[in-house]
Amino acid sequence: MDQDVKDIALADKGKLRIEWADRQMPVLQIIRERFEKEKPLDGIKLAACLHVTSETANLMRALQAGGAELVLCASNPLSTQDDVAASLVKDYAIRTYAIKGEDEKTYYEHIKAAIALEPDITMDDGADLVSTLHSQYRHLTERVVGGTEETTTGVIRLKAMAKDGVLLYPIVAVNDAQTKYLFDNRYGTGQSTIDGILRATNYLLAGRNFVVTGYGWCGKGIAMRAKGLGANVIILEVEPLKALEAVMDGFRVMPSIEAAKIADVWVTVTGDVNVIDRAHFEVMKDGAIICNSGHFNVEINIPALRELAVSSREVRPFTEEFVLSDGRKIYFLADGRLVNLAAAEGHPAAVMDMSFANQALAAEYMSKNAGNLERKVYPVPEDIDKEIARLKLASMGIEIDKLTAEQRKYLASWEMGT
Ligand code: ADE
Repeated sequence: MDQDVKDIALADKGKLRIEWADRQMPVLQIIRERFEKEKPLDGIKLAACLHVTSETANLMRALQAGGAELVLCASNPLSTQDDVAASLVKDYAIRTYAIKGEDEKTYYEHIKAAIALEPDITMDDGADLVSTLHSQYRHLTERVVGGTEETTTGVIRLKAMAKDGVLLYPIVAVNDAQTKYLFDNRYGTGQSTIDGILRATNYLLAGRNFVVTGYGWCGKGIAMRAKGLGANVIILEVEPLKALEAVMDGFRVMPSIEAAKIADVWVTVTGDVNVIDRAHFEVMKDGAIICNSGHFNVEINIPALRELAVSSREVRPFTEEFVLSDGRKIYFLADGRLVNLAAAEGHPAAVMDMSFANQALAAEYMSKNAGNLERKVYPVPEDIDKEIARLKLASMGIEIDKLTAEQRKYLASWEMGT
């Protein structure tokens, strides 16, 4: 079988981890069992460009159960779990192209190996697969019935393509489902980012100035969890509304240049470039820790940091120490890549359960609606989103009330007032 993984001998360890994650993914299990019977993806060739983790492996199992012919490549050079990649190949016969730490050339070769399947459906996390397909394999887009996109950054890129009229097939924005962003972006990124920072540094957060740039759902989750560990959380925002929300949530809000002088730990989750820039490095405290949990490694101006430094060395796995000319040290985590996936294991399976239930059902939706959709970015249909919430609650053994007939009538009426 065509594949490129680090070491197939790691498969046994990977299989144990895939099965461990599966125990926390009851909604995806239900979908897998239904897919097994109904085979809604029979005859579909699906290329997925996702973080290759134990949770993604379980999504692949569900899609495979649905009858899809699959290929998987990494959506980030540093997020692959090599043991999981090995097990996908050896135990599940899923063609996988992903090696943790692969260089940029190999990263794109792996994407091209996935494109060689000539997919009917694409599944992306960050839109590198769609973008490569559109720019270098335009002729292959004709057969694609649709794609799905996992993350905020990817959805922004795809909406920009649709706006410019260059998007060649329909996309479902999985990220924008409520059962995705309210849980994955908030609680997933919240917990896994702290996990990544702690695994890389073993740093005490209590009493430290913990700066978060970006107060979207990811930033909210990180801030909430850092506060829970006793940090003094400072939020940096450019949107007045979000900044106001942060203030009322009890956080300090200030300009980045002020925060740079006092930050002990600084995390970026904005999706934008050079959020931590040369001017910030120039005033940073000795010993400051900087990292990124946004999709691309563009949020920290890495070339400027390298230029300012007189020396650098790895002091712990995923922790690089930069010494500046005045002797200050800055600790830079995970090469500026997603610290939660590079230094830890990404979001826990219990939240990825909902994100990947959306992916699986969006793929089924794409296949059912082949030819009926326009070249646009679509939301996940509301009934899918609601059904996932219902299944997740049921899997947790939580029951909720239903509206009474009287309450339903009241909500539908306008005559009744004081
Ligand atoms: N994105 C964030 N966490 C993830 C995980 N555990 N698996 C796949 N994609 C992710």
